[in-house]
Amino acid sequence: MGLFASVNGNVVPAEQACVSVLDNGFTFGDAVYETLRTYGGRPFHLDRHLERLRASSARLGFGAPFGDEVFTRRLDELLARAGNEESYIRIILTRGEGDISYRFDRVKGPTLVMVVKPFEPPPERDYAEGIALGIAGVRRNHPRALDPAIKSCNLLNNILAVREAQGRGAVEAILLNDAGEVAEGASSNVFVVKNGAVATPPLAAGILSGITRRVVIDLCRGLGIPAREDTLLAADLLAADEVFITSTTKEVAPARTIDGKPIGAGKPGPVAPRILQAYREYARRHAR
Ligand SMILES: Cc1ncc(COP(=O)(O)O)c(C=O)c1O
Repeated sequence: MGLFASVNGNVVPAEQACVSVLDNGFTFGDAVYETLRTYGGRPFHLDRHLERLRASSARLGFGAPFGDEVFTRRLDELLARAGNEESYIRIILTRGEGDISYRFDRVKGPTLVMVVKPFEPPPERDYAEGIALGIAGVRRNHPRALDPAIKSCNLLNNILAVREAQGRGAVEAILLNDAGEVAEGASSNVFVVKNGAVATPPLAAGILSGITRRVVIDLCRGLGIPAREDTLLAADLLAADEVFITSTTKEVAPARTIDGKPIGAGKPGPVAPRILQAYREYARRHAR
């Protein structure tokens, strides 16, 4: 049980894993990543995560010279070695080892790192009582500068926002885009519930296309809950009956407050827990 890593297919305890200090992932943040988790020991929607990883790296002009079966085999080996009941999985693909220059022709790569560790679920209290969110002053990267649709290892925008929110007692930061519309959480997508209907910002707001977000939108339809993508303002969050965030690790987490102000009744409403239950059932069925 524990933390194990695979570096270009070599599986070792994570603390023994090495990547060159000349790797572009280290020197430039020139890398993309995915975060997954297992249900029943099996990765959830590995197919969609690999598709997004490839889309992200294609935007940066590099990619893995092998198919999904190689990712799958390496991940299976790693999960088997780690032997965790449930694992948190991080897949990192860097452009490769360079010479600390913008001479991309000199880069030998890519470098594929996978790390697994025991999955630590968020405290049950987060679901029972709701979490505190904070709207960050720092804005989400403009898509014409560094498109948030690219899941890159350049996470400084997210770190600035989360540190600011944590400093104000929140666990997750909500970022607005350059136009002042709600974009997404620092590591999550955001939804509102108003009069029984669910809404979430469109991809055009400049956000990551969250895998949980997509599943939740599809599940809502099956549950008979109207769900739409719509421009949201901070005032819409504060006036909502419920607000919840979605991510691989948090699943569907209801908010209790935003910047200290209660959402709805100041405790989770009826809609988010219904979606969470449907999501967990779906995840157990769809883990490979
Ligand atoms: C910026 C951002 N938005 C949204 C998400 C949620 O994505 P997913 O549901 O695929 O985990 C993440 C996940 O880490 C993220 O970093």
